Amino acid sequence: MPKMKAVAVRPGQPHSVHLAELDKPTLDQVPNGRGVLVKVLKVGVDATDREINDALYGNAPPGYDFLVLGHESFGVVEAVGPNVRHVRPGDYVTCTVRRPGGSLFDRIGRSDITSEETYYERGINLLHGFLTEYYVDDAEFVVKMPKGLKHLHVLAEPMSCAAKAVQQAYEAQRRLQVWDPQLAFVTGAGQIGLLTTLILRLRGLEVYTFARGEAPNLKAEIVEGMGAHYVSTAKTSLKDVMARVGRPDLVVEATGSSAIAFEAMEVLGLNGVEVWTSITGGRKSVQVPSDMINLQWVLGNKLLLGSVNANRRHFESGIADLALGEVMYPGVLAKILTNPVRGIENYREMMRLLVEDKHALKVFVEVAEG
Ligand code: BGC
Ligand code: ZN
Repeated sequence: MPKMKAVAVRPGQPHSVHLAELDKPTLDQVPNGRGVLVKVLKVGVDATDREINDALYGNAPPGYDFLVLGHESFGVVEAVGPNVRHVRPGDYVTCTVRRPGGSLFDRIGRSDITSEETYYERGINLLHGFLTEYYVDDAEFVVKMPKGLKHLHVLAEPMSCAAKAVQQAYEAQRRLQVWDPQLAFVTGAGQIGLLTTLILRLRGLEVYTFARGEAPNLKAEIVEGMGAHYVSTAKTSLKDVMARVGRPDLVVEATGSSAIAFEAMEVLGLNGVEVWTSITGGRKSVQVPSDMINLQWVLGNKLLLGSVNANRRHFESGIADLALGEVMYPGVLAKILTNPVRGIENYREMMRLLVEDKHALKVFVEVAEG
């Protein structure tokens, strides 16, 4: 059996990132001729990978004492089973992260809203990830990327999460019968905050995107490149901006800080919706003005919505918005892809950038050329 290298952790053991070895997968591991064998080209890493290496969460697949990392994948199809129609060898693809469990939602292609406690996510929980040389998966989970978006590669997965978050907000707001949002606040200018900013700009909203750093900096350049407003919270608070431009119809929270998730609740407008997307693996706890928030929330018919993960429809609409983004704001999206790391063997440098480099907006591993 040919072997291949992979970057893995030992779940439960902090800072255990290491090089592991796996058997090269084969098409026949997927039933019904639905297998797609993908050669991995690039894999993005994010705070989730960092927190898994900190042993805050993450579990190995049954029968293994390690978990291969990597859930933001970009690769090229090498071979497909006889019953695969939508991709063929040579196509660029990305892949969804979550795999179905047993709930009704899982059975209708909505594992992203599974009603089971246990979720199965490649590179995160109970399934090996993509930070290796090849993977095989069911065609259902493999999503084609147009050749023209090859240069945005690993952004497809974070984009899918941003796409889901925004779509969920719009769907939930159908409770109002009419909802025509004009103003949005996005808290956080990491990949999710920036990609959410893009999606909202493409829908014509005025967007204020908040992050700590003072402009000029790269995040501000990207936000302004999309026609949105960058606000440094070092100088200006959410409330300051609210006092100037009014209460937002929509808040998307993507800072990774639960304190800010609650703080943002104090600025949301009447009938508004706030979407939480941050995975906060820590144990932080803060005091909040609960009477005030409760009162505003009830009197204002406001909605708080959590959103995680994404299914293939969200990937597809996210990819369409990446393409539209390239037309509307040419060259801006590629600026997110700041820190390439060459080769799987350089996994230590990958983790170092992720942990230490405050300017590393997006770290990704270049696994192979192609
Ligand atoms: C991933 C999602 C995943 C979530 C929770 C995020 O980093 O991008 O796909 O569902 O973590 O594990
Ligand atoms: Zn992620």
